[in-house]
Amino acid sequence: MFLKRIVLSLFCFHVVLGKTPEIREDVRKFPDGFLFGVASASYQVEGAWDEDGKSESIWDHDTHKIPSPIDDMSTGDIADDSYHLYKRDVEMVREMGVDFYRISLSWTRIMPTSFPDKINQAGVDYYNNLINELLKHNIKPMITLFHWDMPQKLQEMGGWTNPNIVDWYGDYVRTAYELFGDRVKYWITINEPTQICLYGYGLNLLAPRLNIPGVADYLCSKNLLLAHARAYHIYDEEFRASQGGNISITLSAQWYEPESELYATASREYLQFDSGVYAHPIFSKEGDWPSIVKEKVARKSAEQGFARSRLPDFTPEEIEYVRGTSDFFGLNHYSSYFVNMDEDTINSYAVPSRADDIGVNVFKLNEWVLSEFSSTDYVPWGFYKLLNYFREEYDNPPIFITENGFGTYYTGLDDDERVTYYRGYIGAVLDAIDDGTNIIGYTAWCLMDNFEWTKGYTVRYGIYHVDFESPNRTRTPRKSAFVYKEIVRTRSLDIGFEPDTSVMTIDEGH
Ligand code: NOJ
Repeated sequence: MFLKRIVLSLFCFHVVLGKTPEIREDVRKFPDGFLFGVASASYQVEGAWDEDGKSESIWDHDTHKIPSPIDDMSTGDIADDSYHLYKRDVEMVREMGVDFYRISLSWTRIMPTSFPDKINQAGVDYYNNLINELLKHNIKPMITLFHWDMPQKLQEMGGWTNPNIVDWYGDYVRTAYELFGDRVKYWITINEPTQICLYGYGLNLLAPRLNIPGVADYLCSKNLLLAHARAYHIYDEEFRASQGGNISITLSAQWYEPESELYATASREYLQFDSGVYAHPIFSKEGDWPSIVKEKVARKSAEQGFARSRLPDFTPEEIEYVRGTSDFFGLNHYSSYFVNMDEDTINSYAVPSRADDIGVNVFKLNEWVLSEFSSTDYVPWGFYKLLNYFREEYDNPPIFITENGFGTYYTGLDDDERVTYYRGYIGAVLDAIDDGTNIIGYTAWCLMDNFEWTKGYTVRYGIYHVDFESPNRTRTPRKSAFVYKEIVRTRSLDIGFEPDTSVMTIDEGH
């Protein structure tokens, strides 16, 4: 098996090399107006899970289960305690010198009943304070309206599988625009639909862990797209003229490289089932699900004895309602895979399931693992290919990279592997820009270590280390923070730059 992987990887490496730009040693500049930022998300950093009137979200519910489904049995009850320490967070954002800070709102902190009948003023105050603190220092807030922490009460009524979610979510986002839209110019409706629907509804990898494969995940996808479109239209029709902001969705997308030319179709189809399920309805000229997804799920559903396709149809009105609902293409990217048609693996997939519907094998290479501490694979050329693929597939939309970063089991400050990762991936962004791909911003995930969902605190993504043992959750910059700061300061990538990590300062203007 090991030998097979080595032989394979040599072969694959050869296939890939010819098409991929080399890592460049020269100092490379970003275009004028390019935006740099850092990100976090409410449940992962805020803590204060039941403080000041906040109600329960699905992540509060999930992490309080006994036995715990979280790797280290931890919770986000306190997390980074950003609810109380947000001023230190803003100080760190200022140290980085970035243009924006991407945060998310907790629905249950603002609307404890889930509905607009009761607005929790303490929750509103928290976000006002955070937003105003950022603006005071010339940092733009970018706000994600939904980063996975669905109100538990709505989940009990089906969450994203209940079509009423479109109204409920619409009411929530309207309130958010009313409360904060005078100061917020970048909105993300929903973060990573694939993870929400596939991992949360089709599998049991994320809350609410429904684990109803090939059925609940597709229902979730349809309602989620309609809810996104509702949020876009409400903004467009009721707020855009007075508030003048930008709004879109953030998709998580990885690259799927064919192991050889034999698997070019497998790669294309996998991409359509993965990012395409959300990108095609919004960003393609014709809208609707990708046709290969419709065909494959309908055929399998019929063979399996279902009365109709497990993939719910969009009506012509719904197709129009969703099509074009974006001001930019929000993209989270972490890593890549190879694809082939290995029959043993394909035959082992659950029936029904999305994996079985696609009918393709995905795998990784040993050489992508930087060390035993890495939890993210290092494949910068995959990012380059993905960015150029979106340019070609969706008519060169403005791509805003809303997350990219490196997870590790290593917790220390000398995070050379994270530095390698950022340099490689930011270089890939520059390569894609050189090819004419319209990339307008880049966001490092994450500002600081935090609650990494089912991994708890075992995996760290922060460019700042957080000491979860200390009562004030002490934050300390890692080497990667100094390197990222220099990229932002010079608006350029110099892979030879060695930072002085002895002292972190705030530069003028921030
Ligand atoms: C994407 C998610 O949006 C974020 O919440 C998560 O922490 C990172 N990926 C890393 O897994």
